[in-house]
Amino acid sequence: MTQILPSIFGADILNLQREINFLEGAGTEILHVDLMDGNFVNNIAFGPNQIKAMKEASTMTFDVHMMLDNPAKHLDDIIATGAEMISVHYESTPHVHSIIQRIKKAGCKAGIVINPGTPETVLEYLLDDVDYILVMTINPGQPGQSFIQKSLEKIANVKKLIGERTIRIEVDGGVNEEIAKTCKEAGADLIVVGGALFNDSPAESYAALKEAIK
Ligand code: DX5
Ligand code: ZN
Repeated sequence: MTQILPSIFGADILNLQREINFLEGAGTEILHVDLMDGNFVNNIAFGPNQIKAMKEASTMTFDVHMMLDNPAKHLDDIIATGAEMISVHYESTPHVHSIIQRIKKAGCKAGIVINPGTPETVLEYLLDDVDYILVMTINPGQPGQSFIQKSLEKIANVKKLIGERTIRIEVDGGVNEEIAKTCKEAGADLIVVGGALFNDSPAESYAALKEAIK
């Protein structure tokens, strides 16, 4: 089943509880939560304490997208937030394999993320370990960018690599209704949306996004 994952980074920060309630009321199962350190990416957002507070105020599954240098150092704090899904960027550490093992040992689903310039072939020796693969469809760190069209080819290639395994494919960045549909057709299951949902008419936009991936 293909799902829309709202990205809380796009929500109204002054009314997070209201936004969480809105998303839950709209039937959201998984919330995408960006963690940015100002080093791996320029932006800074949502540290473990904030994520834990949001998690305690919510019944949704949390998908934490770690965009930070030295993820190994912060992993225990991130696991302690209660997030059920945690993903690590291939480019952020020479120790992705060990971090994936730690995520799984903690009982969470483990994801590997690849940037637009990273070929999907780097996934080969991780395929038997990860639960999901996040294909970045923009360069991480800044919402509101345009979807990189070449990503569609990458999603299809990742799907081929996965073969019969039960690994899910997630996409993140620049997705609107039309693009959500093409991502689904290319093989994506988990579709992160920020700006195209948190706009002037979020309820209508959310309904349209869901309709597009039916
Ligand atoms: C960007 C983040 C995204 C972001 C997506 O680095 O990883 O999750 O919130 O926002 P949109 O959908 O507006 O590109
Ligand atoms: Zn993200």
